[in-house]
Amino acid sequence: MRMYKKLFIPGPTHVRDSILQAQAIPMIGHRTPEYAELQKAVTAKLQKTLYTNQRVFLFASTSTGIMEGAVRQSSTSKVLNTICGEFSNRWHEITVSNGLHCDTVEVPLGQAITPDLVDRALAGGAYDAVTVVMNETSTGVMSPVAEIAALVRNKYPEVLLLVDAVSCMAGVKIEFDTWGLDVCLAGVQKCFALPPGLSVCAVSERAMERSRQVKVKGHYFDFVVNDEYYQRNQTPATPAISLIQALNVQMDTILAEGLENRWARHIEMADCVRDWARTYFRLFSDERYLSHTVTNVENVRGIDFGLLSAELAKRGAMISNGYGRLKNKCFRIAHMGDLHLDDVRWLLDQINDILNLS
Ligand SMILES: Cc1ncc(COP(=O)(O)O)c(C=O)c1O
Repeated sequence: MRMYKKLFIPGPTHVRDSILQAQAIPMIGHRTPEYAELQKAVTAKLQKTLYTNQRVFLFASTSTGIMEGAVRQSSTSKVLNTICGEFSNRWHEITVSNGLHCDTVEVPLGQAITPDLVDRALAGGAYDAVTVVMNETSTGVMSPVAEIAALVRNKYPEVLLLVDAVSCMAGVKIEFDTWGLDVCLAGVQKCFALPPGLSVCAVSERAMERSRQVKVKGHYFDFVVNDEYYQRNQTPATPAISLIQALNVQMDTILAEGLENRWARHIEMADCVRDWARTYFRLFSDERYLSHTVTNVENVRGIDFGLLSAELAKRGAMISNGYGRLKNKCFRIAHMGDLHLDDVRWLLDQINDILNLS
C-alpha cells in the first residue's frame, strides 16, 4: 500500500478516510427526491457556516470557474480589482479576459487590502463591483473583509462586493449577511477538507438583481439560471453528487465541532506556526493581517526548500514552496481543514529535526 503524505499545503488539504469513504456510496439520479433532499440538507448546513439566510449555490467546478462567472454577472459599468498577490491578480486577469471594464488598486506583496485603500479607489471612478481575495494564499495575508464590507455598504451601496474566500471559508468566521457581502466563493478542497471538484458560492439578493440586469454573462454560472433549479433543490447541470454526499457528512462534523471551536482551532494552529516562524525564520507578511489558515515563512536562513521537502516526504508530510515571485524566498505551511494542533506540532518537530534547529 502506498504511503500517503499528510498535506500541510494550502489545498488540496488532508482528507480524512471517513470523508473519502463518504464519496463511495451508491449513485443517485440528480432529478430524484433523494438528491433534492441531499442538496437541501447540505445547503442548510452551509448557510449556518456562512451565517446567511440567502442562496448558497453549488457548482461542479473549482473556484476559478466561479471567479469568472461571478465577475461576468456583477457589473454593467466598471469593476475594481484589488490586488495583493497572485490569486487576486488572477481575478483581475479573468476580468480583463472577459472584456469587462476594470481598474486595479494594488499593494506590495505581504500587505493587505484595507478599507481606506478601497475607499480612495472607489471614490475615483464609477464602479459597480469590487473584487477582494479575503485570504491571499500566495502571501498568507488575510484582508479585513468585514471592515471593507462596512465601508462599501455605507458609502457605495451600488457597488457589489465579490469575495474570494477560497482558502479560508469554513476555517474562519465569515458572516455573509451581517457583513453585507454579495458573492462569497470557495472550493471544498481547502478548509472544508474534501477532495477537489466542487465549489460553494453564497449570493446576495443584490447580486441576483444585478445578474438580472446583465445581458451577456455566460450560462453555466448564471445565478438566475441556477436559482430556478435552486428553488427546487437542484442544479441546472449534473452536480458532483459524490462530493456533495461527502460534503454533507463533513458538514455534520463541522457543525458538531462547533463553529466557534472551529475558528478557534484554526487560530490556535496559526499562532503555533507563527511563533515557530518568528523564532527560527521570519514572517513575510504584515503582522496585522496574518492569515489564520496559511503562514508564509520568509526563508531568511536560505534553506534548500527542495531538500527540506524531500526529507519531509520521507517522514510523511508535505508543505509548499513560496508562490510565484516568492518561490524559494518563502515557504508556506498550511494549517487548515481537519488538521489539529498536534499535527502542526508534529510537523514543526520534523522540520526542526531535519534542519537541526533547536
Ligand atoms: C485565494 C485563491 N483563489 C483562487 C484559487 C483558485 O482555486 P482553484 O485552483 O481551485 O480554481 C486558489 C487556489 O489555490 C486560491 O488560493
